[in-house]
Amino acid sequence: MKSDTAKTAVLQEETRIFNTPQWIIEHSNSYQWMKNKGFKTENEMRKWCSDNYIEFWDEMARTFVDWFKPYTQILDDSEKPHYKWFTGGKVNVAYNAVDRHAHSEKRNKVAYYFVGEPVGDAKAITYYQLYREVNRLANALKSVGVEKGDRVVTYLPMIPEQPITMLACAKIGAIHTLVFSGFSSGGLASRVNDAEAKVVVTADGFYRRGKPLPLKPNVDEALKNSPSVKKVIVVKRTGVSVPMTEGRDVYYDDFVAGQSTKCETVPLDPEDRLFILYTSGTTGKPKGIEHAHGGYAVGAAQTTSWVLDVHDDDVYWCTADAGWITGHSYVIYGPLILGASSILYEGSPDFPDLGRWWSIIEEYGVSVFYSAPTAVRMFMKSGEEFVKKYDLSSIRILASVGEPLNPEAYMWFRKNIGSDQAPIMDTWWQTETGCHVVAPLAMTPEKPGSVCFPLPGMNTDIYDEDANSVPLGYGGNIVQTAPWPSMLRAFFRDEIRYKKEYWDMYWQVKPGTYLAGDKATRDKDGYWWIQGRIDDVLKVAGHRISNAEVESAAVSHPKVAEAAVIGEPDEVKGEKIVAFIILKEGVVEEESLKKDISTHVRKVLGPVAYPDKVYFVKDVPKTRSGKIMRRVIKAKALGKDTGDVSALSNPEAVSSIPQIN
Ligand code: WT7
Repeated sequence: MKSDTAKTAVLQEETRIFNTPQWIIEHSNSYQWMKNKGFKTENEMRKWCSDNYIEFWDEMARTFVDWFKPYTQILDDSEKPHYKWFTGGKVNVAYNAVDRHAHSEKRNKVAYYFVGEPVGDAKAITYYQLYREVNRLANALKSVGVEKGDRVVTYLPMIPEQPITMLACAKIGAIHTLVFSGFSSGGLASRVNDAEAKVVVTADGFYRRGKPLPLKPNVDEALKNSPSVKKVIVVKRTGVSVPMTEGRDVYYDDFVAGQSTKCETVPLDPEDRLFILYTSGTTGKPKGIEHAHGGYAVGAAQTTSWVLDVHDDDVYWCTADAGWITGHSYVIYGPLILGASSILYEGSPDFPDLGRWWSIIEEYGVSVFYSAPTAVRMFMKSGEEFVKKYDLSSIRILASVGEPLNPEAYMWFRKNIGSDQAPIMDTWWQTETGCHVVAPLAMTPEKPGSVCFPLPGMNTDIYDEDANSVPLGYGGNIVQTAPWPSMLRAFFRDEIRYKKEYWDMYWQVKPGTYLAGDKATRDKDGYWWIQGRIDDVLKVAGHRISNAEVESAAVSHPKVAEAAVIGEPDEVKGEKIVAFIILKEGVVEEESLKKDISTHVRKVLGPVAYPDKVYFVKDVPKTRSGKIMRRVIKAKALGKDTGDVSALSNPEAVSSIPQIN
């Protein structure tokens, strides 16, 4: 799927086009808006909305979000590249996601159908119930001194306390930072410390593949050197006994006991920060992406309505973990702001068997289903047996995110899960963009494997090195040529890196151009094809992991001197992690040591970063400034042309890298 050349094979070969059934088109939110406005074609509408993006987002902001105080300026771009949206207004995401529904005719509507992994462990939570729980926790947080702007880390499985904590923070103006529960203590510690979190909310454990697994011990390990953390709140999920640190740790139930179910929602400046979410970049240090209340709420809600086409009577399910941006925008905020009913599922897709997801779709009548290519490919590989057992005819819209949905996976998903009729919204976006950027709408004729076109309101283009938009049929860097409401606002305490990574590339020629970090091409019909990252970032089962982070975890093994990490194409996971290891002087190269190194990386970073293959090498190619040349290593390992290596400080090291496929 990734390609070093500008044009992919798929681009030249794909001729299939799928039209969505007319009833799905006419029923869709985006189509109805288009008709009301009098646009004749999708192209005309997309173009108008992007050309007039300020006017467009103004209308969307009024449609999807209630403002305590109306804003007086839509966009303030006087301090590029720090943009401000909806200036002068007052807003709070929690009011929009919960309070207003709890006081409307939606009060008894289900916000979440929580489905625990143990079969039968399920409960429905209405908007009114959610409201009361959020208020109790918000009051409890205030009682231990959490104030506006303070950071609260959650390290939780997919259980109701996850959205409750996020919303409780938002309500009082605290900033939440979710750490995916698949990270281990090392990943947790670095994020807690960078964010200087005051409180950590976690659980005793969670269920995975039928077994209760511990979570709290990772927190104890991570917090050994975290002076900022004053309280650890522990949700009892599995009921196993866990060590509790006197004075610091408290069980969730005890923490909220006796708290009032009423709590004032603080009217905030739209630019006040809602969350920091750490994501991987080119260096080993994760970057804290900051998102703001106002613009983020608008982007998340608008795209949940337009792209995922969630309606009031849908049962909607996004399978992402809340710990990633997809979870933030499309499990929590987007659907809640719309007042939708969603599934919140704790477990893995294959417990007790590979039919679990499909059984949930049948049982709850899920009509909009948002998942990831790696999951689709896993099911594809295991055959249709489990799919056929269930009635999936409720599905109207499918969606995908995280990495390219290759055409075979598109075909399988559409046929088997979408009853051969549901369109698939292949959504391209990033932690940094906050919401979808390039994607089809229900009305878009789809080409399998293409993310179609930039969305209404987005000014997305493909640039060459000199900031020229490339003609159809060519590839280049994905850029945003104008700001959008749900864009990242900053890196937490790292202004230099913020500018360097996203804004410096084209600043001399076209200041204010956002460099996304992906390459794409457009075919002769203008359809977009994503080609992958331009930097050293891995996509393993859709998770964004930096090569450098895995390398430094490997180097922390006592016998490892140096490590170089690359991704090898994998049928199911997209990429798998391969590590080339230089051992310390005198250490004997033993087979068992390879496993030991992988296990060590898993311990430091978590199961998401487990190296599938380890090779011992004598040397790795480097630039004169000492940077590991992963591109060259990868080419050699995969049996491809390494290109010109004369500029390396040690060109002879290339021969030390074995071919691995
Ligand atoms: C990177 C962002 C955005 C939510 C999930 C991941 C890749 C994302 C697609 C897609 C091809 C995709 C890009 C992007 N990506 N969606 N539909 N087709 N590639 O968020 O962890 O911030 O990762 O995921 O490389 O830059 P993230």
